[in-house]
Amino acid sequence: MMMKKSYEASWECPSNIALVKYWGKKPGQLPMNPSLSFSLKKAQTKTSVRIEPASRRKVEFLFEGKTSFFTERVEKYLAAMSLEHDWLNNYAFYIESENTFPHSTGIASSASAYGALALCLVDLKQQVTEKKFTTQQFFQKASRWARLGSGSACRSVFSSFALWGRLEGFPNSTDCNAIPVTEKFHPAYQSLRDAVLLVDSSKKQVSSSAGHEMMNEHDFKDVRIAQANSHLRQLLEVMKTGDHQRFFQLIEKEALSLHALMMTSDPSFILLQPNSLAVIAKIRAFRQQTGLAVGFTIDAGPNIHLIYFEQDKQMVHQFIEGELLSLTENGDWLDDCIGNGPRKLNG
Ligand code: PMV
Repeated sequence: MMMKKSYEASWECPSNIALVKYWGKKPGQLPMNPSLSFSLKKAQTKTSVRIEPASRRKVEFLFEGKTSFFTERVEKYLAAMSLEHDWLNNYAFYIESENTFPHSTGIASSASAYGALALCLVDLKQQVTEKKFTTQQFFQKASRWARLGSGSACRSVFSSFALWGRLEGFPNSTDCNAIPVTEKFHPAYQSLRDAVLLVDSSKKQVSSSAGHEMMNEHDFKDVRIAQANSHLRQLLEVMKTGDHQRFFQLIEKEALSLHALMMTSDPSFILLQPNSLAVIAKIRAFRQQTGLAVGFTIDAGPNIHLIYFEQDKQMVHQFIEGELLSLTENGDWLDDCIGNGPRKLNG
């Protein structure tokens, strides 16, 4: 038996944006369909976890120096994890977390938050058990642990592209964790950028867990599962050949399918706002006029993610400033790009 001591781990983990959307889950926080995303660079969560020996588990969680609604979620998460990982019951957890991006910006903060927390916990597990995982085991475990907090978080612990969910014929793909995508894509895709046009930053009308649940009885459930698999397969091919036109057709179809599913679920939700549609129309007109390879994706909210390539940055920024900012809330937007994944802090 290991002598109990205090340990500490700190990690920074990015958020990610899905190109093929995860929507709907099976029991155990497993996805109904496979998804593909890329990790962002600027939108990160930094988390430090210090654990001290205790007779029973206790959690203190500070978000940006204050107790937050997230404290209860983290407590529940650790309680659920401790059923399988007994060592979690023997420590008091002192967790401090902060985001490098503003709250409620339409960037999925739960993905980076659970990504960072899971990385800290796997790091601590290594310290507590004095067992060293290989790099692959470490990130695979972190992805699994992140998934149990928030499904999409499992894709955040890798750099660039991550695939989550069983895709027939794709080696090592699994519902249990995301895997890094090491396919030889056209080099342009390593320069993807994501400009988030903040149409409305107020709280979502529907939580993603409620949204996922509505897929259980959805009229289009089976069609959606087949569609997502087909989109993912096509996207992986298109990204190899560099057919940008088809790439944007596919990711826009994914985003609009996600919203179509919400609009036609029971109860129905319309999260897009008039200005979301106005931004979409402008992006399509800009693409038509300039012939530039640009398009959009959308998460479960009203904000539009304008996806483009690094080489077109100057023209796209001029377009955003000239034509899109008047359609956003207070002229707000975030300019992010594909990133290098998580980073261990303090050595
Ligand atoms: O991880 P969750 O439960 O917050 O679900 C996220 C779902 C979408 O963001 C809408 C799509 C995705 O794949 O990220």
